[in-house]
Amino acid sequence: MSLRAFKGAIFHLTDDPALVGPGAATGWYPDGMLVVEGGHVLMAGDRVAVEAKLPAAVEVIDASDSLIIPGFVDTHIHFPQLDMIASYGEQLLDWLNRYTFPEEAKFADPAHAAECADFFLEELLRNGTTSALVYGTVHKQSADALFAAAYARGMRIAAGKALMDRNVPETVRDTAQSSDADSRALIADWHGKGRLVYAVTPRFAPACSDDQLTRAGQILKDFPDVLMHTHLSENTAEIAWVGDLYPDAKDYLDVYDRFGLVTNRSVFAHCIHLSGEEYQRMAEADSAVSFCPTSNLFLGSGLFDLKTAEKYGVKVGLGTDVGAGTSFSMLATMDEAYKVCHLKGHKLDAFKAFYLATLGGARALNMGHQIGSFEAGKEADFLVLDLAATPLLARRLKHCKSIEDILFVLAMLGDDRVIKETWIAGERRYSKA
Ligand code: GUN
Ligand code: ZN
Repeated sequence: MSLRAFKGAIFHLTDDPALVGPGAATGWYPDGMLVVEGGHVLMAGDRVAVEAKLPAAVEVIDASDSLIIPGFVDTHIHFPQLDMIASYGEQLLDWLNRYTFPEEAKFADPAHAAECADFFLEELLRNGTTSALVYGTVHKQSADALFAAAYARGMRIAAGKALMDRNVPETVRDTAQSSDADSRALIADWHGKGRLVYAVTPRFAPACSDDQLTRAGQILKDFPDVLMHTHLSENTAEIAWVGDLYPDAKDYLDVYDRFGLVTNRSVFAHCIHLSGEEYQRMAEADSAVSFCPTSNLFLGSGLFDLKTAEKYGVKVGLGTDVGAGTSFSMLATMDEAYKVCHLKGHKLDAFKAFYLATLGGARALNMGHQIGSFEAGKEADFLVLDLAATPLLARRLKHCKSIEDILFVLAMLGDDRVIKETWIAGERRYSKA
């Protein structure tokens, strides 16, 4: 089995710094070494201590001028929205009808889906995102295309075809029966193959009939390690619509709950306008939120309240939500997350921001035992960061006195240019050079 050691500054989060304190949550080795064997982390730590345990003949890759961190985990992104990212002027419901659904209709063509899936995954790697929870379109072939492309790259990707059988144009509509059969066929073909995971993916409550949601809940029961991925409480007009469709539901979350969709494998994007009761229920069920700041600002949806989620003990990860989100970069997403938190009256520190983008995201996707940090035995998905990616970054970093300062500046000023190399399961899959 291949054994390789990487020499450089190493940083990772091993727990939520807001819960256990930064000292107990961080691993920081300014002169460090990461050792990878057979696609997994063998050890990571102080170089002198690690070297003492290594056989003399091991291949050492020198990244001494760089920072090595775990790959980013994007907990909410739409691969079919590549070609309409940055579409002007609308809030959620008009944005869906005017731009999104016409674009997604093109994924009836498997060749188009395959071309987009390849571009999409290359763009993730270029931005240092090694795992993601991904929406397909309504078409089964969109999910097939994405899974095939992710399998070829050895990536840990969770995805699903979107369920949407009402209140959407006919070109992007399925039926309760067809969506049930397609989801089950996709699970049979892809779930657990390599590092792939299936996610049952109701578009959002207004686009799914009761029959469709009932069947989605049954799939979750039948497959105990399949994820559930949907949108929740993003936009006030959307919430009012859900209220009209379900006048006797307690709240938006309760609509999903009725169908068995609020579980410890459920990931809800946005969650901007939740009540205390909804937070409470999510905490009880151990469901996760995907916090998508660039999207929430771009669509004018509102400001997510990270502190309240923390107070209730709800799992949170970061998501780009491309194409409502405006960047594939998780660094740019941390930057906007910091500003959203500022406007909500609290400070998102650099350790928490990087936690959300790595181990926190992994935990939100129930992958915390597999990815997100350099604990021994985890899958070796990691990044080599270029600390001189731009003249301004190189200049500003010279004034940093701690790793926390360095990480904060990287999050505020960094983007895809900072990603020098992206490694997937111990293999280099992207190099800026
Ligand atoms: N709600 C339902 N569909 C979508 C989507 O594609 N993007 C966002 N941001 N919200 C949604
Ligand atoms: Zn979304």
